[in-house]
Amino acid sequence: MYLTPDEEKLMNGESGPTYQKAIEILAALGDIYGADRLIPIKSAQIAGVSYKTIGDAGLEWISDLKGKVVVPSILNPAGMDLECWREMGISEDFAYKQQEIIKAYEAIGVRTECSCAPYNIYDDLAIFGDHVAWSESSAISYANSVIGARTNREGGPSALSAALLGKTPNYGFHLDENRRPVILIEVEPELYDSDYGALGYIVGEMIGDKVPVFDLNTIPTKDELRSLGAAMAASGSVAMYHVRGVTMESSKYELPLEKITIEEQQIKEIYKMGEPDLIAFGCPHSSIEELEKLARLLDGKKVKKEVWICTSRALKNKHPELIKRIEKSGAKVFCDTCMVVSPASEKFKCMMVNSGKAHKYVPNLCGVKSILARTEDCIRVAVSE
Ligand code: F3S
Repeated sequence: MYLTPDEEKLMNGESGPTYQKAIEILAALGDIYGADRLIPIKSAQIAGVSYKTIGDAGLEWISDLKGKVVVPSILNPAGMDLECWREMGISEDFAYKQQEIIKAYEAIGVRTECSCAPYNIYDDLAIFGDHVAWSESSAISYANSVIGARTNREGGPSALSAALLGKTPNYGFHLDENRRPVILIEVEPELYDSDYGALGYIVGEMIGDKVPVFDLNTIPTKDELRSLGAAMAASGSVAMYHVRGVTMESSKYELPLEKITIEEQQIKEIYKMGEPDLIAFGCPHSSIEELEKLARLLDGKKVKKEVWICTSRALKNKHPELIKRIEKSGAKVFCDTCMVVSPASEKFKCMMVNSGKAHKYVPNLCGVKSILARTEDCIRVAVSE
């Protein structure tokens, strides 16, 4: 990959080891994937925040960095609510290490709002056509498909390197030819609520990392689109998809010849009932519309089981009345974290979720049985004895 004279200087260590390592990481990726050069990015979203996932080695690596990010950079969810961690049952030791990780990111200029839905908080991160370096799989899918920005599936180190340099290698989803759909997914049933996550769960397993275009009978909301994308990114590794007549670039390409049809029965089969001891919402982090829906469903009711709702601290702070309405039911609203990246969920036996992504990850990453259900059904179970 071509490096400019200034980039060569970074490579030679003239700006210190942090920037040298950053450009080494990006140049290595560029060489592996055949990038011609580095291109400027508008923002970075950095995974590798939960102490549960990065441990002491990750904390040490971030703490040793000497530099500042040069583009708006945000963090993925951490392993705990940074304020209410005791309420989650997090240990003092874990909490101390998690705070150290956040401080280390803050020291290099990263915004410490920990959310996988940063597009619901900030409006300076990405608009149509922007190149970005994001690393949380649902955010990547949302950026590429719904916003129409361009990002590869970055890992924590490559997103951090991109944040420090304000650049990323020009390959993959930064190029038109890789954004073209290669498989048509015809969906027979009309979809509602968690059906989109169920669909994503099924399709991701079928198509791996291909770019699909969906032909749907219903027009999804933005939240339903992100449920679809999040689940496909988890059960497969789909980083971009199109929905005919809905997503930003869907009319730009011819329909592919390869086709799969999804029938109603396939969606129904994903839903099972059971006896959860935790009911969790907010994967990806709940939007304001999702919080409003949960508040409506919980109004005048008391939950009889542990209920968590994960969202960003920015939304929680901005809508105190709404949060109060939800909490009146006994449901807990946690920020900065989620049911998957926090060790707090590991003490439960069975989690009921309304998210296809959580349904995929909870058994694998938390060792907890998972049940997928529609939002209304989750609430019905939550308030019943
Ligand atoms: Fe976000 Fe955690 Fe789900 S990071 S997408 S809420 S697994």
